[in-house]
Order: sequence, then structure tokens, then C-alpha cells
Amino acid sequence: MAKENQTIFVCSNCGEEYMKWQGKCDICHEWNSLKEFKSKKIRQINSSADSEPVDLDKINIKSVQRVTTGKVEFDRVLGSGGFVPGSVVLLGGDPGIGKSTLLLQVVADLKRTLYISGEESAEQVKIRFDRIASKNKDLKFLSETNLETVLVVAEKNRPDFLVIDSIQTIYSQEFPSTPGSIVQVRESALKLQQFAKSSGTTVILVGHVTKEGTVAGPKMLEHLVDVVLYLEGERFQNTRILRGVKNRFGATDEIGIFEMTEKGLMEISNPSKLFLAERLNEPGSIITSTIEGTRALLVEVQALTSPAVFGYPQRRANGFDLNRLQLIIAVLQKRAGLSLSNQDVFINIVGGFKIAEPAVDLAVALAINSVSKGQKLSNRLCVFGEVGLSGEIRQVNLEAKRLNEARRLGFDYFIKSKSLVKAIEEVKKYV
Ligand code: TYD
Ligand code: MG
Repeated sequence: MAKENQTIFVCSNCGEEYMKWQGKCDICHEWNSLKEFKSKKIRQINSSADSEPVDLDKINIKSVQRVTTGKVEFDRVLGSGGFVPGSVVLLGGDPGIGKSTLLLQVVADLKRTLYISGEESAEQVKIRFDRIASKNKDLKFLSETNLETVLVVAEKNRPDFLVIDSIQTIYSQEFPSTPGSIVQVRESALKLQQFAKSSGTTVILVGHVTKEGTVAGPKMLEHLVDVVLYLEGERFQNTRILRGVKNRFGATDEIGIFEMTEKGLMEISNPSKLFLAERLNEPGSIITSTIEGTRALLVEVQALTSPAVFGYPQRRANGFDLNRLQLIIAVLQKRAGLSLSNQDVFINIVGGFKIAEPAVDLAVALAINSVSKGQKLSNRLCVFGEVGLSGEIRQVNLEAKRLNEARRLGFDYFIKSKSLVKAIEEVKKYV
């Protein structure tokens, strides 16, 4: 660490410090990013002698009063009950996916909120707010990008909730780099986190996921905050999934499902029904029961095969892992004798859903089988199971839950075979 008032050079992209100027940062490989900078004593070590460890069992905990947002799907992802006072929540997602919309709707029902936007003016936000939310007299707004000003205003107002939209637009004068760079994002988040802990204000940070992935994006902030939520979805489809990725106060595997409408994001309480609404049920379409969070959801898996135009056949997957698809195609060829080596194979999970669990394997395999044989499957068939390399079908977790959700929506034919070859035979009953 540099001494006080010494000249140092700081990379404006990643914050690495150098004693001499150089053209390229060794750490982030950015060119021409080093800026001259008089170092201040940035971190002072607190060597106070009265820091004493305490017995954990002697600590009295005032029972934490969570604050509900009044939105069932949002509360579910936050962990039962809502926001924990003094916590820092990061809401990440692609630009334009609906983060600001969601937050405006959430704060509409909260008390004593200060909403700071570095992206939009008060008028812009007001127009949107009037359209999507009911009146809230307890909501204050400030258009500001300077971290020091933000902290002064926050300290003066001491709100219960402080929203920063977005952390990438906030910059501190203390650092020589541009807003949105790693240094700025990290230092701003750190200061805001300290404010949350000292004041008991719940701080909600919005973070854009950058196209390149991680640089100055929310990934870097994940360890700093208490709760990390990501809002996902295809931009041109209406379904949005709010996913809990980290949670110091609850489970992380929860999701909330919303639909983007002209009146903002609406909660969807019966997602399976929505996902199946437009199903045509052509050959290659099959329904699977997948677990998201603690819930079972019915989702349509579609396969298409077509003769490969150039020698090397294509394999494409939307919402499903490509490597896994290649493996399933290999198993279908080797164990079930399907001939796919001169066929392009496409897989699509309908509704912009991404399924990572292996339980969807069987649906993918049977969808490919169905389309390559031109078999249209019964409207009452629902399948799930993991496919192994020997062509075996393995059991998956939470079977009862999957079956219940399927039955609830009128699917009562299930595949019982333990191998892919037998399943392909069995499925003929449901053609
Ligand atoms: P926004 O919340 O601004 O996205 P983010 O903050 O994540 O960048 O939402 C942007 C998109 O949402 C915008 O393209 C239009 C759409 N939208 C609706 O469809 N309905 C609405 O009521 C609102 C407010 C936005
Ligand atoms: Mg926004």
C-alpha cells in the first residue's frame, strides 16, 4: 500500500496500483488505463485495544423483523417474510430486462424509501411509476450519480430502504477512474454496504450484467452483499424469472415468475398453465415436469431434425445444455439405433426457460425420437428422467412433486421403463 501523498498510478479499469507508469495493466490487460493519483491513506487499520471477542451464546438477538414487500413471488425469493433490515440486496440482470420496473413496483408498497437513479430523471421515473404502481407518499426520488452526495443525502434522510439504480452509474470523486469501472463499482458498493450496516437501512443495488460477462458487473459484487437476485428472461418474450443466487438469510434455490405487461411485471401464480397455453403438439413436442426452486413446473420441450445440408450435421439447443444434447444424441444412436449422423438436430425449451437439471434428458431424447419418426405424442403424456451413457433411465429427485403437478394439469400418462430402448417401445402406446 502506498504511503500518504505519494504519487501512484492506478488502473482505471481494475484498480491495480503501480509505482511507475506503464502502457498496459498487467492484471486486466487494458491499454492506457493507468492514471496518476496522489495516494491518501485509504484504509486505516483500527488497532483499538478494546476489540474483545465475546461468547456467542451470550449474544442476545432481537428477533429480526423482516419487512414484507406485499408481493408473494418477490418475498418467496427473498426468503420467507421479505427484506431483512440493514441488509444489502443486489438485483442483477441484462439491460432492459425489467429491473427498474420491478423495483418501482416493490417499493410502491414500502415505507420510507429513497430511490436514487443515475439513469433516469425524476419525470421519467414518475411517468413510469404512475403507470405501474399505486400511489406512495413515502417514496422520495433523487437523480444523482455522485457517491459522496448520495451518502450525505442518505445519512440526512435515514430511509428504511435505499435503492441505487444502477451501481454502474455511481462514481466517487476519491478515485481516478470512470463510472462503471471495477474500482468505482467496488468502492461505491463498499461504502453503501457500510452505510447499510451502520444505519440499519436496507440497501438495494441494481447491477447490469455487462455483455462481456464479469467486468465491473454484478459478479464482482456478489461477495460484498447479503442477497443476490437475478432477473432473467428472453428480452422479446414476456416471461421473467427472478432467481435467488445467494442469500445469507434464507434458501437460494427459489424463483419467482413474472410476466411483463403494459402495467409492469405481473406475478404468475400458475406458471405451468401459461407455459402450455400455446402448445400445438406436433411430432417432436413433449411435456416434462421440471423442478425450479421448490416448485414443479410443466414445460414443453421441442425437437426438430432436418437433413444436414453440408457434411457436418448441426446440433443446436435453446434453453438446454449443448454438451448434454450431444451426449443424448450419441446414446440414441448407439443404444436405440436411431440414425442421426446426417441430420441436424435442434432443441428448444419453450417460454425462454433454461433447464439445467438432468431430469429433462428423457424428454429431450423422446422428443428427438418422436420428430425423427413423425410420431405425434398423446396430450396426456408427461416424461422426466436422467439418461445415462448405457441408455439407462435414472430416477430423479422429488418425483412425487413432479407427478402431482402433471396430474393437476391433466397429464396422467407416464413412462415407467428403466431403459431408453424400452421407453421408446413404451411411448408407442401413447402415440
Ligand atoms: P426496465 O425496468 O427499464 O429495464 P432495466 O431497468 O432492467 O434496464 O424495463 C425495460 C423494458 O420493459 C422496456 O423495454 C419496456 C418494458 N416495459 C413494459 O413492457 N411494460 C412496462 O410497464 C414497463 C414499465 C416497461
Ligand atoms: Mg433500469
